[in-house]
Amino acid sequence: MELIKHWDAEDAREYGKKVMMVEHIMAETGLFTDEALAEMLDRHPSHLIDFQYVVNEPDYPDRQVTVDFSGADGKTMIAAAKSDLPIWINVREVMNRQPEYKKVLDQLHRELEAYTGKNNDRANCRGGILISSKSARTPYHADPTMTHLWHIRGHKKAWVYPKTPEFLPDEAYESIILGEVDEDMPWTSKLDEGAIVAPADLHGGELVLWPIRSPHRVENVTFCVSMVMEFSTKASAFTNAGMYMNGVLRRKYGKNPSWWNASPPEKFIKAIVGRAMLKTAGRKAFRRKDMVQYKLVQDAKNFVQAVAAPYERVH
Ligand SMILES: [Fe+2]
Repeated sequence: MELIKHWDAEDAREYGKKVMMVEHIMAETGLFTDEALAEMLDRHPSHLIDFQYVVNEPDYPDRQVTVDFSGADGKTMIAAAKSDLPIWINVREVMNRQPEYKKVLDQLHRELEAYTGKNNDRANCRGGILISSKSARTPYHADPTMTHLWHIRGHKKAWVYPKTPEFLPDEAYESIILGEVDEDMPWTSKLDEGAIVAPADLHGGELVLWPIRSPHRVENVTFCVSMVMEFSTKASAFTNAGMYMNGVLRRKYGKNPSWWNASPPEKFIKAIVGRAMLKTAGRKAFRRKDMVQYKLVQDAKNFVQAVAAPYERVH
């Protein structure tokens, strides 16, 4: 059974260059039902599950904060995600680590390669499953890797924006590369006026792709399940290393560098130095602490309860 449907020649030519949508039938594998997902969550190591609650904060609407889910089973997590609460669960690397899911990931790679003629670096590809409630939102952000969003169940709305300095300021992107923030960037409703896609309705059975680093945000309409493929390419590793160096120059040495206006030789040197710095210091030096602000309580009427005092994530 082929999982990707209707991939035409134009899609192959435009792959990775513009926003595009392609149909698929991943739901038919049976691996994404409520029951299968609950069992998958029970099998998965908890350090690779991010269970988050979406809150509103000034300048960062729809910020995702960490929920401690230790002691709660997969069934409870799915029930919480099907409630009215704004819940967002990211099951990282499940497509790589659990054998039935890995079969699907491998098949998608084979089909993508056949359709696009491009050999994406499979070893690099991480596949995670996102399970989110009807009131969940994914805040305005940019991903430092190439991202394919395989939407499997439910209805979402997605906005995609250009990756110009106005929408993706160097400093905000550096924060992502340095690990100061997850991927969040400041957002105001004014940015929507310049969106490339504003908004697109996304239904289960649709794959959506956008050019690398294009900022985007998502609002759910119903309970949703998606699979996200993320992989770095030579070009993304180059940009990320160079912008890492710029981030350090700005934060530690008070400089005001610009990647957008940098010449090719400047980019080249910075990418080499940045790569070396990343190898030694990594993102740890700037990494923010992951603070738990809520607790998921099994069998409680209110699944998610605020903790008395925030504590660092250990689960
Ligand atoms: Fe994203």
